[in-house]
Amino acid sequence: MQPLVDQLLAQAESDILSVRDQQSLDAFRVRYLSRKGEIAGLFEQLKNLSPEERPVLGKSLNALRARVQAAFDKKAQELSSNSANANGIDLTLPGRMPFVGSRHPLTQTLDEIRRIFTGMGFSIADGPELEDDYHNFGALNFPPDHPARDMQDTFFVSRNALLRTHTSPVQIRVMENQPPPVRAIMPGKVYRNEAINARSYCMFHQVEGLCVDKGVTFSELKGTLISFIQQFYGSGLKYRFRPTFFPFTEPSADIYITCFICNGKGCRMCKQLGWLEILGCGMVHPNVFRSVGYDPEKYTGYAFGMGIERIAILRYGIDDIRLFFENDVRFLAQF
Ligand code: PHE
Repeated sequence: MQPLVDQLLAQAESDILSVRDQQSLDAFRVRYLSRKGEIAGLFEQLKNLSPEERPVLGKSLNALRARVQAAFDKKAQELSSNSANANGIDLTLPGRMPFVGSRHPLTQTLDEIRRIFTGMGFSIADGPELEDDYHNFGALNFPPDHPARDMQDTFFVSRNALLRTHTSPVQIRVMENQPPPVRAIMPGKVYRNEAINARSYCMFHQVEGLCVDKGVTFSELKGTLISFIQQFYGSGLKYRFRPTFFPFTEPSADIYITCFICNGKGCRMCKQLGWLEILGCGMVHPNVFRSVGYDPEKYTGYAFGMGIERIAILRYGIDDIRLFFENDVRFLAQF
């Protein structure tokens, strides 16, 4: 039987060389070392031998089993310490970069707006998102039957509590709390009961601006806002002011800039106009001053308001406002 033992050892020692993973290692163990394996089979045959032969071959089988077991243990050790290599992973590859978060595009846009206006001497003010009718409408010279008060646009929480529809009520709160002069911007969330689609959302952000002092003029409004536009969008940009209406400013204007997507030729982004509206502004209406106890004979001022989503959409060429609020990292990681 000794030749069988030698043969099995040779076979096992050559087999172990081709073991490269846990699966073939298991197969090896089953074939040689398990209770029904080949070595156990040889031990089985001991009983057929003569009493003289038995201890000799028993010894040699024990030696065989020890060597095969040792070969198995060594390979198992190799595989576990080296399991990465065994699974085809190249340990020499550089490590993965840890994921680093980025600031939300709206935060980035707002930070830039803040930086520009604080650089021009504006402070930053804040006000509640839950407002009353007086601050959101009445004090801003909205007549009682103005359509903006309609339930269709405004989220009413109770008869006199509503989610502010713009940041203009913060103007009122700032002026109620301090005498002139005022030079502040007021960023925040606003809410409108609008159908949610690619272009509109029930909540968005605005930045309000207010400057009140003796002798503030429309040309100061123009100078400040043109300076903002040039700092924010680049100095080569064309802009235009068009008259419009807001209850709380008179005269009022919308500011447009040349559509930078089509360069004024007309495209989907600017609805073929070649111009993009970027903010509303005007001289503070005397009635607004009256409602906060400022003397409209002594003080004048200008105000403006812009939508931050709109500005970010234009700036980054984003085609769906909903992307800002879905927190999809694939979107956010691009900024
Ligand atoms: N509150 C206006 C709006 O929501 C924007 C605005 C603010 C216009 C201040 C003029 C002055 O559309």
